Amino acid sequence: MSPRLSQELIDKIRESNDIVELISEYIPLKRRGKNWFGLCPFHTEKTPSFSVNQEKQIYHCFGCGAGGNIFTFLMEHEKMGFGEALRFLARRANIQIPQYGVPRQENDLLFKANQFALSFYQSKLNSSSKAKGYLQERGYGEELWQEFKLGYAPPGWDNLLGEAKRRFLPPDLLFKVGLAVKSQKGSGYYDRFRDRLIFPIFNLSGGVVAFGGRTFPGAEEPKYLNTNETPIYHKGSLLYAIFNTKEHIRKKGWALVVEGYTDLLTLYQAGFRNVVASLGTSLTSGQAKLLSRYASKAVISYDADSAGEEASQRGVELLLEAGLEVELITLPPGEDPDGLVRKGKDRFAKCVEEPENFLDSRLRRLKAKHDTTTVAGKMRTIREIGSTLAYIKDPLRRRLWVKRAAQSLHIEEDLISSSLQQKGGENTSPPLRVPDRAEVAVLGYLLSHPQKAGWVKERLEIDELRSSQVAQLLSSIYQTTQRGEEFSPASLIDEHPELSGLITQASFGGEEPEEALTDYVRAIKVEALKRKMAQLKSQMEELEERGEEIKEEELMREYQRLSSQLKESA
Ligand code: GTP
Ligand code: MN
Repeated sequence: MSPRLSQELIDKIRESNDIVELISEYIPLKRRGKNWFGLCPFHTEKTPSFSVNQEKQIYHCFGCGAGGNIFTFLMEHEKMGFGEALRFLARRANIQIPQYGVPRQENDLLFKANQFALSFYQSKLNSSSKAKGYLQERGYGEELWQEFKLGYAPPGWDNLLGEAKRRFLPPDLLFKVGLAVKSQKGSGYYDRFRDRLIFPIFNLSGGVVAFGGRTFPGAEEPKYLNTNETPIYHKGSLLYAIFNTKEHIRKKGWALVVEGYTDLLTLYQAGFRNVVASLGTSLTSGQAKLLSRYASKAVISYDADSAGEEASQRGVELLLEAGLEVELITLPPGEDPDGLVRKGKDRFAKCVEEPENFLDSRLRRLKAKHDTTTVAGKMRTIREIGSTLAYIKDPLRRRLWVKRAAQSLHIEEDLISSSLQQKGGENTSPPLRVPDRAEVAVLGYLLSHPQKAGWVKERLEIDELRSSQVAQLLSSIYQTTQRGEEFSPASLIDEHPELSGLITQASFGGEEPEEALTDYVRAIKVEALKRKMAQLKSQMEELEERGEEIKEEELMREYQRLSSQLKESA
């Protein structure tokens, strides 16, 4: 397995960087009392509710609930991966770290195999009049296929394998990167790509990580073949051509998103350079996050009708979730961007100038789909638009869209807002999504007074908690204490980044006196007892209906025991 950095080193990197210093490089902060305040970078606001606590090395926004430590800040704000944030902060603090991730040598070999294949395919393209002829026919100039390093896999079962052998590259290495396929009978291999145009796929640093291959017209199906996922290629977290186009996207602040390789190349050649291709029917959350590093708006240009369709809708919602604004370009029926540009660049440019906002388009489609003059139709529409709007994280932006949707449907805003709140709840009352005040207060107290963890542990069982989120955090605190290790808000965030908002909320909760802790613990225990009793009661009723008296009596005794316990603690 891949070597991971020790917790010790992670702590050291965190402690060697100061959160106020780091965040100040991105947003201006002003000191007020113990905390520093600024405008929250995670939602739109006019008065600062984003606060940073230097002592605890955490931040929390009282407006939108975002929170975390120095790592999550870089991950959320700069869209870095955890490893990237670690390396960034290590460099910043002059700390040497061992190679992080998959063992270097293995990755090196995979890159080496791909790099070898890339040169091979490129040189074959250079000497193939058929392949060059086809590219020319499609209007792709030499400059373009050089820049995107297009290639050609000649016909035959072992051209690539044979060349690899001459260079002492083992066939199973080509198999690992998906360029060779195992033959069904024996232990042999054959080339995956035969008589196909090759589209190499590059990662963000320009390393070649995968390949796609297209047949020539009239040849065997499928039209496109791809190499598989490998330790250096995760399909769902990369976009085609992003290495070539990311700076154009960053400069413009928005990106065109197309489906196919050929759409992308045609647009790029025609001067639309802020473009990426998704290479699949539905975008993934990894792709959405990646794009949000460079763009604040995505303009989707899929085949004439597929962008608004159900299949691609989920992907588009993920773009909303990543904080992007989303617009759709509608092409004439039967056209893809490649086809339209080849009929005239201006025709595509005109479509780009008249995009429709995705949410407007969603509303329009819903109104066409359901009869919104009936109550049932309205309900369905509200539910469906609500499920889409729930993806918008920025509260202001979300409220504005709720307002707009309400106007468009001629209904009141709270009908939509309340359908938004139900999302995620979906009939599952426990585990509680909004943690109990007393439970958060206990958590907050422990985060400022870690030495009290043992005291709480002796008194409060994990299953007495209602909130599964607080339960997760508390059980992790118990374990840390048991191991004799220390914890802090910032270290707990490393362990539970998905709960960082709750951790910082609890931690910023303010100083409470020690007596308050006792009260909170008691209140939680009383609530737990009451819940247990209510549960017993309904079990007893059930047993009574079925006439199982002996079992019922057993439960009765348990009930009485709990009831006297309750009186004692009250
Ligand atoms: P051209 O026909 O060369 O213009 O390609 P296209 O991009 O217009 O093809 P199409 O609209 O059929 O497909 C769009 C994209 O979906 C392609 O670029 C591929 O990424 C993907 N795709 C299409 N067909 C296949 C297939 O058979 N297998 C796989 N893996 N992907 C496909
Ligand atoms: Mn096409």
